[in-house]
Amino acid sequence: MSAGPKVPTAGNRSKDSASLPNPSPAKGKPVTLSSLAEKKALGEPIAMVTAYDYPSAGVAEEAGVDVVLVGDSAAMTVLGYPSTVPVSVDEMLMLAAAVRRGLRTPLLVGDLPFGSYEVSDEQAVATAQRFIKEAGCDAVKLERGGSSVQRARAIVGAGIPVMGHVGLTPQTATALGGYRSQGRTADRALEVVEDAMALEEAGCFSIVFEAIPSDVTDLVMPRLEIPVIGIGAGPATDGQVLVFHDLLGIYDGHAARFVKRYANVREQMVAGVHAFAEDVRARRYPEAEHGYTMAPDERERLKEILATHRN
Ligand code: KIV
Repeated sequence: MSAGPKVPTAGNRSKDSASLPNPSPAKGKPVTLSSLAEKKALGEPIAMVTAYDYPSAGVAEEAGVDVVLVGDSAAMTVLGYPSTVPVSVDEMLMLAAAVRRGLRTPLLVGDLPFGSYEVSDEQAVATAQRFIKEAGCDAVKLERGGSSVQRARAIVGAGIPVMGHVGLTPQTATALGGYRSQGRTADRALEVVEDAMALEEAGCFSIVFEAIPSDVTDLVMPRLEIPVIGIGAGPATDGQVLVFHDLLGIYDGHAARFVKRYANVREQMVAGVHAFAEDVRARRYPEAEHGYTMAPDERERLKEILATHRN
């Protein structure tokens, strides 16, 4: 009798959901908007990462982060686009749904991609609803102040929690003069502060501050009641977010100053695939333990059948 493989792999798993591995066990109670507000009130930092697929969601779950964002950074990190601008709603929904399947505990936020919410409140609400209904997100994120404040208000009014995003907003980086820190003059800093306050007033449950001077963050934090998650905004925010592929060293594109690498996974991935290719070329793989066997009497029977076989 042949011995089946002990570990389920993508290659041997059936599509039957009963045979799929369970997502990692929940670390605790699901994170909610009120538990995030409570963390802020208690001064407990909030940890947020991006994830774009089932395995990265499982990693975020097991690592015990509070919030997972299916960021439109996926455009660059997993889809190979040159910026976040080209990614479509359908592409984001496919990624977000995969993350949902691997996640139980952290709050799941879906990033509304460029062009999917700016035109009207109706467009914004309809897109946000797709993230909730089709992908199972708990909340959505949109970028900028200005007209996005009204879009945020409309989505919140439709019963969907919204996270804002100010400072460097990659979807409109060209208008901001490129991927550069924002708010380095008092006038521009004031715009960022006003955008943040307007988003809070519009009902956002949280805001991301990206690439702004720590001085600006320090000055605005006492004016905001909702949790602020920083990325390149200094230590004073209520939490921090990094892009999964940046912090683990999977993405080999340009890394912003605020990125801290906690691992070099890409190097290990290349080494692993390289070792596999070398083994194949040297006929070191597969070995006996990787194969299946047949009962000797069945093998003999097959031999006899083949001996009298027409071809
Ligand atoms: O798309 C993204 O990953 C983001 C984070 C940087 C906040 O917006």
